[in-house]
Amino acid sequence: MKNFDNVTSWSRHLDPFYLEQLRTLRSKVIHLLEGMGEKTIGIISSVPEEGKTSISLNLASSVASIGDKRIMLIDCDMRKCDLTMILGMRGEIGLSQYLDDAAGGAESIIKNSKVKNLYVISSGRKVQNSTELLTRAKFRDLLVILKEKFDLIILDLPPVLNTADPVAVKELVDKYIMVYFAGKTPLGILEESVNEIGKDKILGVVLNAVDTEKIMKYKKYYQYYY
Ligand SMILES: Nc1ncnc2c1ncn2[C@@H]1O[C@H](COP(=O)(O)OP(=O)(O)OP(=O)(O)O)[C@@H](O)[C@H]1O
Ligand SMILES: [Mg+2]
Repeated sequence: MKNFDNVTSWSRHLDPFYLEQLRTLRSKVIHLLEGMGEKTIGIISSVPEEGKTSISLNLASSVASIGDKRIMLIDCDMRKCDLTMILGMRGEIGLSQYLDDAAGGAESIIKNSKVKNLYVISSGRKVQNSTELLTRAKFRDLLVILKEKFDLIILDLPPVLNTADPVAVKELVDKYIMVYFAGKTPLGILEESVNEIGKDKILGVVLNAVDTEKIMKYKKYYQYYY
């Protein structure tokens, strides 16, 4: 995934197993939205580079592309800012400045995307005190504002076992989606991060793997959650 134009036509680029999971996830998310007002979803994984940012963007684009729901996608990984770079929003004022009182009101960081009904908030400048910023009351207040304006809020978060961020925002997140790179990350590591977050909070596990044989090996475990 080199740039945002690739993402807008995601269904033509991705492998069938990945697409099938995205469709299932989309159904689960839409079902969730029809329920008790839960609309904030955090995308997490145990360790780095398991595919969180890709899933965040693909899922957000996918939900936005059907129906008329308004989707907000936030780059909450303020240490790496990968989503912001993919979206071509590097250098723009975003979440880190907003939370540090160095931006205007919430409206100043909410941006349109190239996908209809999909809106984004970039990470802003890279920071190391991400956990501290996300635990400020200002982030909580921002989510309150966004919940009034949007039907679904997707947070692209850093990994569970390398940072404190996913657990730090637990009270603000209704459900997490756990991305798991089968064959690369040991199963014990996944179990550790699932325990850290709590099974009840996990809407689904996305099995990300290039090797389909490995997918079959892990599918049993994956079905347990999914
Ligand atoms: N299903 C897949 N098949 C092949 N490559 C993939 C797949 N999913 C993600 N990638 C690639 O793997 C790399 C890491 O993906 P991504 O940035 O989405 O992961 P991440 O979990 O957000 O990483 P980080 O922890 O660094 O934020 C990217 O180069 C991405 O293009
Ligand atoms: Mg990422």
